[in-house]
Amino acid sequence: MIRYSRVIGTGGYLPEEIRTNEQISRTVDTSDSWIFERTGIKSRRIAAPHETSSSMAEIAARQALAAGACDPEDIDIIIVATGTPDRVYPSTACLLQQRLGIKNCVAFDVQAACSGSIFALSIADQYIKSGAAKKVLVVGSELCSRIVDWTDRSTCILFGDGAGALLLAVSAETGILSTHIHSDGEYEDLLYCPNPQVAATLHEQQQAGYISMRGSEVFKVAVNTLERIVDETLDANNMDKSEIDWLVPHQANIRIIAATAKKLKMSMDQVVVTLETQGNTSSASVLLAFNEAVRDGRIQRGQVVLLEAFGAGFTWGSALIRY
Ligand code: UT7
Repeated sequence: MIRYSRVIGTGGYLPEEIRTNEQISRTVDTSDSWIFERTGIKSRRIAAPHETSSSMAEIAARQALAAGACDPEDIDIIIVATGTPDRVYPSTACLLQQRLGIKNCVAFDVQAACSGSIFALSIADQYIKSGAAKKVLVVGSELCSRIVDWTDRSTCILFGDGAGALLLAVSAETGILSTHIHSDGEYEDLLYCPNPQVAATLHEQQQAGYISMRGSEVFKVAVNTLERIVDETLDANNMDKSEIDWLVPHQANIRIIAATAKKLKMSMDQVVVTLETQGNTSSASVLLAFNEAVRDGRIQRGQVVLLEAFGAGFTWGSALIRY
């Protein structure tokens, strides 16, 4: 039997606090118009002090489990993508396993920065297709607000907090058609977040643990790389651009998203955009956008959806799903 990974449930969580461009422009030298024109962002959500990546992940995961009518005990694997784990260890996935009260499953984190959710989906798909797992819970959860320097206008305007979840189950019907993931460590210095406690260089030991980004250089590589992954994904499935119903991109910059849509000859009406009110939630962004479009009825069963992301590393990837 051919086994596919079918999406049987989705979930999402956004913290309550809304932080607008207007509010940020009171503390750093920026403006609502600059931020909106250059990025497409108007506001982002900021987690409360008591919230963590695992607490947000739990809310998103419970929604996905409920949507898939799945007993937590039936989960074989939990994969959490995060760049902001509650602790260095145990993994956020183990903390989530504990929160969900699951005794017998495997749980581990994936670190691929903003591409984390696609990497996690790809791993989940391999386990399901091989017959090694029947149900896999994939979560992306991020507290970006705690690793941005709120005095650095070039990064603090970009990011937000949140968690997205997706539950996959083995199926004889189509589900995930293919996943494609890539990494290139050559670009490590263009976008990174140091870990001063364990860094080997004095320079990084003296830095605070904040995101550092050479934005315009990242932008150029992101646009080119995402164009290439679109071709790779279509070619692998012998599919034409016109067969894709929805694009669910990583939400970093509306100009990057528009370039990918143009490459696909897709109207922006076929692109799920959450950026305006959520900013860049790193590994949560694709899962949050997917959840939103499933829940509001835009993405329908049987439709073909292209998920893609690009992030630090660099890492990049895509997943083509017949929902
Ligand atoms: O999610 C992971 C992957 N990340 C990305 O894909 C992010 C990719 N990069 C971007 O989205 C864009 O490069 C940014 C939105 C980060 C920046 O936009 P940009 O059009 O590339 O601007 P820039 O960095 O080239 O800066 C242009 C000018 C500079 O001033 P000068 O040197 O021209 O005088 C900056 O100092 O804009 C200035 N600037 C700002 N001005 C007002 C930078 N940040 C701000 C700001 N408000 N917040």
